[in-house]
Amino acid sequence: MAPRKIAAGNWKMNGDLAALAQLDALAGSVDGNCQIVICPPALLIHPMSSKSVPGIQVGGQDCHAKASGAHTGDLAAAQLRDAGATHVILGHSERRADHGETDAEVSAKAVAAHQASLITIICVGETEGQRDGGDTLQVISQQLAGSVPDCATAENTVIAYEPVWAIGTGRTPTDDQIAEVHARIRADLSERFADGAHMALLYGGSVKAGNAVQIFAIADVNGALVGGASLKAEDFAPIVAALAAA
Ligand code: PGA
Repeated sequence: MAPRKIAAGNWKMNGDLAALAQLDALAGSVDGNCQIVICPPALLIHPMSSKSVPGIQVGGQDCHAKASGAHTGDLAAAQLRDAGATHVILGHSERRADHGETDAEVSAKAVAAHQASLITIICVGETEGQRDGGDTLQVISQQLAGSVPDCATAENTVIAYEPVWAIGTGRTPTDDQIAEVHARIRADLSERFADGAHMALLYGGSVKAGNAVQIFAIADVNGALVGGASLKAEDFAPIVAALAAA
């Protein structure tokens, strides 16, 4: 079984109720050949899932490791699920940087998400300094080992490789650099998990219509986690089409 193909949109802290119209515009791009998941700000999860656009799933951008309790401002995985989310992004580099999330915290959140029947999109990626220092593969292996819990399977876990220096910058790694990291991720997952060969691996960082075809042709790239270019259907639709055709 080949890994699923997934085009995931990360709206970050962008969008409002009016932006939900983008889903109607995207509806025509739905293709049985790949999954589409949009991860809007938490307040939009329920209105978005309530639109029930066939072929478009909805995800959160974070969840707490605890099931409930005194954690002001946080959201439990089961609450995301209750609001209609099927997925949750965990360990995005912006959360690691802005909120000091560690690999162990990301792993604990992933366990909670799986207990709530959410599919996790777990992010890893090196900084520019780490790449320049020749540490990329070691950093990726370390983040994977620490952030992906033992309960991960090809059904409940998706990995996103997002070089920090490529996010929102318009810069992307070379094809060889992406291939090298994805091969390492695949090898690490295959060594640790019985179905590691079947886990979907996404590339993220300045994916756009103009580079999607090329990126999706790289070995072990099963889709993309897209920020800026996921906000408007006219930008995201060609990326979905490129993935469906890949
Ligand atoms: P970008 O963001 O596509 O805007 O670079 C990707 C991400 O952070 O998931």
